[in-house]
Amino acid sequence: MAIPDGLLHSIASLDPLPITAQKLIKALDDENQGPAQLAQVVEFDPAVTSSVLRIANSAAYGGWNKIDTVRDAVVRLGGAKLLDIVLGDYLKRMKVNAPMYDLAEDDLWLHSAAASLAVKALRQERPRAGIPEIANVAALVHDIGKLVMVRYLKADVKQVLRLRDARGISFVEAEREMFNCDHAEVGGAMATKWGFPPEVVGAITYHHQVPVQAPTPTIDAVIIANLAAKAIGTGLGAEGMDLRLDEQVNRRLGIDFAGFSRVCIQTMVWFKDLKASYGVK
Ligand SMILES: [Fe+2]
Ligand SMILES: [Fe+2]
Repeated sequence: MAIPDGLLHSIASLDPLPITAQKLIKALDDENQGPAQLAQVVEFDPAVTSSVLRIANSAAYGGWNKIDTVRDAVVRLGGAKLLDIVLGDYLKRMKVNAPMYDLAEDDLWLHSAAASLAVKALRQERPRAGIPEIANVAALVHDIGKLVMVRYLKADVKQVLRLRDARGISFVEAEREMFNCDHAEVGGAMATKWGFPPEVVGAITYHHQVPVQAPTPTIDAVIIANLAAKAIGTGLGAEGMDLRLDEQVNRRLGIDFAGFSRVCIQTMVWFKDLKASYGVK
């Protein structure tokens, strides 16, 4: 399935990523960049610096030992988490109102942030599943395609739902029938334009693919994290829990129902803390 020309044009004219995020993506690509160099990239961005310190001192990252320099925060959090924070702030600022998906205000950001925490919980649950740190970033941006779908295809959610019900298909499948593409594919094209690592582009593009054709631990982790983020009640919108899932995903990650429940509970605990740190109810 190909993205329609008009939509491709919209992707090409998207606002560029904030300069801090662009620099960070480049720096993370270069193995010679240590915590000191990574800290230099972000410490001139006051909004990012305050988020980095707040998160480094949060319960999810061992906040009992207070940190007050960006360099120490980078050592504690790691480079991938740093990008996760920078992109999280960007999404939060976009505060998208997504009528097509029935998501309002902060919903998309909250859902994305919950998915990112769910990957962290998943890695804790399955330390030997080979889930890389960059999977946090992939989870955070897995639904960015919705930003473009909403902005440029001002579709009526009721129409998508009617088609879904008439055909007995999933919300994403109905999206494909109506627009010739879905938000995952569009998100992948956006991530490519922004120069995201291929691992992240793949996870965005295939997070709704059933069965997953070329699975990686990152794609699998993002699929489960999306489900966990929905299970704890974020980003339900029109799509709800109406997802088709490749059952091999949990088998590959070695996660059963009890493990998934633990991931959801851990995500919920960290998510509550994250919301409190941003003053979100
Ligand atoms: Fe999605
Ligand atoms: Fe999602």
